[in-house]
Amino acid sequence: MARRSGGRPSEAGLMRRRTLPVERPEVTIGPMHRRHLPAVMRIEHGAHPRPWTVGIFNSELAQGDARYYAVLRTDGKIVGYGGIMFVADEAHVTNIAIAPSLRRQGLGSRLLAHLAREGSRRHCVAMTLEVRMGNMAAQQMYRNFGFVSSGIRRNYYPETGEDALIMWLYDLLSPEVQGRLDELEKSR
Ligand SMILES: CC(C)(COP(=O)(O)OP(=O)(O)OC[C@H]1O[C@@H](n2cnc3c(N)ncnc32)[C@H](O)[C@@H]1OP(=O)(O)O)[C@@H](O)C(=O)NCCC(=O)NCCS
Repeated sequence: MARRSGGRPSEAGLMRRRTLPVERPEVTIGPMHRRHLPAVMRIEHGAHPRPWTVGIFNSELAQGDARYYAVLRTDGKIVGYGGIMFVADEAHVTNIAIAPSLRRQGLGSRLLAHLAREGSRRHCVAMTLEVRMGNMAAQQMYRNFGFVSSGIRRNYYPETGEDALIMWLYDLLSPEVQGRLDELEKSR
């Protein structure tokens, strides 16, 4: 155990402490593979009222270029994931989640920005998604990106009978939206 001196810390000691850099975990995002599914499933079970099965993930990963799924790691450990489905020139967000203990630290936004970049790289002109009416946290994150509400799907979630809000992010390739992605990536 490290030795601790008694008494008040010196002014010089306080200054040193104030200027110490804040340790931030290293965040990396890359393609999801089947070997990642045990870690993904652990998060999925706590993320949604009706979690996807491993079979659904496997079937999504088997769709090749029609989908893109990514895992987000902090210090090498998978703590989030998300995916998009490509339909014509649109990217549909199918799933996104961050481990509960690491939420509200900007990781969900990093991941969504990554998915939006992949959609842009594939020349998608818009992104869309459905979100539970009661899921205010996710809705706010989407609004920060410029997603707007465009309609409601009634009883979309059969297990609760909850409605889904349909949201769109238009003009994905415009300098305005790409600039917003830059800002969100820089600030997180
Ligand atoms: C939605 C989810 C992925 C967001 O991940 P996250 O890492 O917490 O997101 P961020 O930290 O990037 O938050 C981005 C913004 O979203 C909003 N937000 C996120 N969580 C919020 C909460 N609990 N309450 C209010 N606003 C919230 C805030 O505007 C936040 O920005 P701020 O922290 O600067 O105020 C995460 O809450 C999650 O995994 N939820 C369960 C799965 C889910 O609902 N997925 C979406 C299905 S459509």
